[in-house]
Amino acid sequence: MTKKDQSPDAPVPKRRATAESMASRQREISVSEFFTKNRHLLGFDNPAKALLTTVKEAVDNSLDACEEAGILPELLVEIVEVAPAPSPNQPSRFRVVVEDNGPGIVKPQIPKIFAKLLYGSKFHRLKQSRGQQGIGISAAGLYGQLTTGKPVVITSKTGKGRPAFRIDLRIDTKRNQPDVVKDETTDWSDRDHGTRVEIELVAAYRGGRTGVQEYLEQTVVANPHLGLTYVSPKGERLEFPRVSGELPREAQEIKPHPHGIELGMLQTMLADSPGKTVKQVLCDDFSRVSPAIAQQVCQMAKVNPRAPADRLHGEELERLHKALGEVRVMAPPATAVVPIGEALLIEGLKRRFPKAEFYSSTTRAPKVYRGNPFVVEAALAYGGDLPLEEPAEIMRFANRVPLQYQPKACAISESVYEVNWRGYELQQPKGGLPVAPMAVVVHLASVWVPFTSEAKEAVAHYDELLEEMKHALRECGRKLAAHVRSRAHADRELKRRSLFEKYIPEVAAAIGDILGISKEKIEKPFYETLPVFVKFADEEGHAKEAPKEGTRANGGGGESAEIKEDGEAPGPVPGTPAPPVAKGKRKDRNKGKQLSLLE
Ligand SMILES: Nc1ncnc2c1ncn2[C@@H]1O[C@H](COP(=O)(O)OP(=O)(O)OP(=O)(O)O)[C@@H](O)[C@H]1O
Ligand SMILES: [Mg+2]
Repeated sequence: MTKKDQSPDAPVPKRRATAESMASRQREISVSEFFTKNRHLLGFDNPAKALLTTVKEAVDNSLDACEEAGILPELLVEIVEVAPAPSPNQPSRFRVVVEDNGPGIVKPQIPKIFAKLLYGSKFHRLKQSRGQQGIGISAAGLYGQLTTGKPVVITSKTGKGRPAFRIDLRIDTKRNQPDVVKDETTDWSDRDHGTRVEIELVAAYRGGRTGVQEYLEQTVVANPHLGLTYVSPKGERLEFPRVSGELPREAQEIKPHPHGIELGMLQTMLADSPGKTVKQVLCDDFSRVSPAIAQQVCQMAKVNPRAPADRLHGEELERLHKALGEVRVMAPPATAVVPIGEALLIEGLKRRFPKAEFYSSTTRAPKVYRGNPFVVEAALAYGGDLPLEEPAEIMRFANRVPLQYQPKACAISESVYEVNWRGYELQQPKGGLPVAPMAVVVHLASVWVPFTSEAKEAVAHYDELLEEMKHALRECGRKLAAHVRSRAHADRELKRRSLFEKYIPEVAAAIGDILGISKEKIEKPFYETLPVFVKFADEEGHAKEAPKEGTRANGGGGESAEIKEDGEAPGPVPGTPAPPVAKGKRKDRNKGKQLSLLE
């Protein structure tokens, strides 16, 4: 309290509410009500983003379901403008249709999946998948309902010869419970099994980097096994046939790793195990904990291994938590994470940039952050028809899902900025992106992706993740630098060759005149030794020429150890043939060649 508040003259504030009157207003908030007010938290903060998020949630679910069932995904995405915008810059009404050939959904589950927030199959397990929260598709349905009043329409079929169901659903936001508006058996003969989701919503259709088409194009880069048909609101039909007939290996579900576990989580795990001993819980519910390791942990923590698990609390619990963090155990199994793979990443990139001149990719070995295994991979496409004078395009992926918003908040973008691309023969303004005809892909695959928010737009800045991303990018950078140098070398040879070819007839004619020999006779050995001249001239030019601005490592950053600052020199100044004369030993060798020419 300040002195002023204590002064006897200060007016006594009038009580506005009592504990009792406040109590009469205190009540539970349903998760649907909460997200109705806070829709931005789930990626529905503006009409354009709402359209992207809706498509994305449905497509991610379809891909997860297909892969889990071992089915090669064949998807249809259709966006239909059902009511035009009142004026050009205003949102209009769209119907989003996403249809898959997945396993389908059993009828009693359909209402809960699509019209109850926080209901799903992926939240309680540690397994790499696109979805993880159990809120995505019902949030999209909720947004549609809020903006158009229309129910979500689901059609699903679980196998050939089985009936298909068509169910219209609304969310009762007060109770966070589904209301079935219509339920009928239908004849869905197009597919043997699968799910079709239809959501009507107020939205805006945009192109560009944050648009739906960009999302789909990036999705096919990271999912070479996906066959996709996209029908845009303009009625264009784009086909993306799959480039790989192989499904990704199934990710292994794992248990929590002792090094990543938090105290509250440990407490819940123990409390949820009545009838079990502490040692049994450690062995059964943790990854990499053998009976011997469990015994060791209990010893370190001074906890009786035979004590009932659900009675452990207070200091004993804290000691057990500490011992779990300190005990030496193997890293979680690498089989829990499924990268795209170096070859398929390149196939994916070729789908998007078929005319690039060079592709490279790297898949790193699995690592661990907070007990969660993860793999980082990077790839790049360079040259060809990619724009020359623009900053490189970054494509960010988490568990094969493109991330299009919040680049500045994302560890992936930061990793691209932090690599010194000048060390790899590219221009890079200080603190900026490399300016080159290049597209960069970074993919983080993990059993749990640490997103910065529920909208799953950006990856949090864990040091372990950032380091791996930079390592992966540098590996790709090194391959690119080798290519850029060898291409520059080949270009120089070609230029020099044509210069020599231009002068040989003149020189041969002059020498022929002096020596009284026919021009053709002189020309022949010149042409035969041409490759040697070109090579000498190139090496000489290489040694002499000053670095060409922007194409060389020009200081800054300390991470270009593998790439020498005085690497390859750029080509000759056009029109000035470099004399085929070299210093030292080379000069002598050269002299020998000249002499033999005149013999
Ligand atoms: N097309 C589909 N085919 C089969 N099952 C589906 C399909 N779409 C959703 N599901 C099931 O419905 C559940 C809920 O989906 P929802 O998108 O709400 O959450 P999620 O995918 O688990 O997590 P997230 O909120 O991160 O997307 C999924 O876990 C899955 O079991
Ligand atoms: Mg989902």
